[in-house]
Amino acid sequence: MNQQQAFLGKISWRSPSNIALIKYWGKKAGQIPASPSISMTLSKSFTQCTVSYDFHSARLRSEVNLFFNHQPAPENFAIKTTDFIRTLETVFPFLCHFRLTVHTFNSFPHSAGIASSASSMSALALCIATILSRSGQLPADSDFFRTASFMARLGSGSAARSVYGGYSLWGKTPLVENSSDKYAVPLNDFIHPVFREYGDAILVVSSGTKEISSSAGHAMMQNHSYSEGRIRQAGERLERLLQVLKEGKEQKFTDIVENEALTLHALMMSSEPAFFLLQPETIAILKKIKSFRAHTNLPVTFTIDAGPNVHLLYPLRYRKEITGFIASELEPHCENRQWIDDGIGSGPEQLIDEV
Ligand code: DP6
Repeated sequence: MNQQQAFLGKISWRSPSNIALIKYWGKKAGQIPASPSISMTLSKSFTQCTVSYDFHSARLRSEVNLFFNHQPAPENFAIKTTDFIRTLETVFPFLCHFRLTVHTFNSFPHSAGIASSASSMSALALCIATILSRSGQLPADSDFFRTASFMARLGSGSAARSVYGGYSLWGKTPLVENSSDKYAVPLNDFIHPVFREYGDAILVVSSGTKEISSSAGHAMMQNHSYSEGRIRQAGERLERLLQVLKEGKEQKFTDIVENEALTLHALMMSSEPAFFLLQPETIAILKKIKSFRAHTNLPVTFTIDAGPNVHLLYPLRYRKEITGFIASELEPHCENRQWIDDGIGSGPEQLIDEV
């Protein structure tokens, strides 16, 4: 590859969404998390991002053209993405010399109410990291995915965790070597086999826009009366979850993950001003999951992000029982009976490699 080719081309990545088991909620300046978080990377809910790029040394600020589903990108997505690229330019000034045409689409319907910032920001970060790497701008000894995670974090904190398959940790903790507030690290070396084959049924209670963004929610944690306690609790739960993921204890997994989800919403309800994202159907689903577990003894677990939709996590060996339960008991609580049959995934995939 000659120098000219390296600076002109097209790159495409598919990057999945992720579901947090220990939640990132609250941050400091510079996208530094208040406490470390752990997530499971999904498979079918992904963003595909294609970036065409060309270099001109006389260009002093990158030119960015954004498209979403072949249409000019909607305003909020365009603002968030352009801000992200401008932030990256401050860290990697070489980026200023590029014209970038970005085409993005999500595998999941916009109306599914799935947070798309983790998948979209990680997909774009992977494309930009590839462009910088091809242009010789990343140190030869740098870890590509770590750099992409570092970049993705600047677009959206949860996106830092999406660059790896399986389980990821973002945030410094003495419990995991090489962990950092600036990028996520993969956790897969020690995960017990029972947690390697997991399904995530995303039960779509409402596809409406959230009344408050995650970024606004994080900001409210700064003066929250429970902030100190929450940081301590997240650290303790993280320690317990790491142990559970190692030992394969499904009952303990359920206890920790469900408490985390409820804590997230309790923190929202006790913010000032308070906000409330759960719907009556969310509560109905949670109760049915608890009762199903009590009757069948099957290790099903719920978690919820910053919205009303429920993620039902389950070992794939019980897939038949769980899909039967969803069809008969849970679908009626979903908007248009909609749910997404997702599960643990192997991480991002590079699609086109044209230079
Ligand atoms: C509730 O990553 O969307 O999903 O960094 O401001 O973009 P920003 O926030 P974002 O927050 C995600 C919050 C969460 C929990 C989690 O994914 O850990």
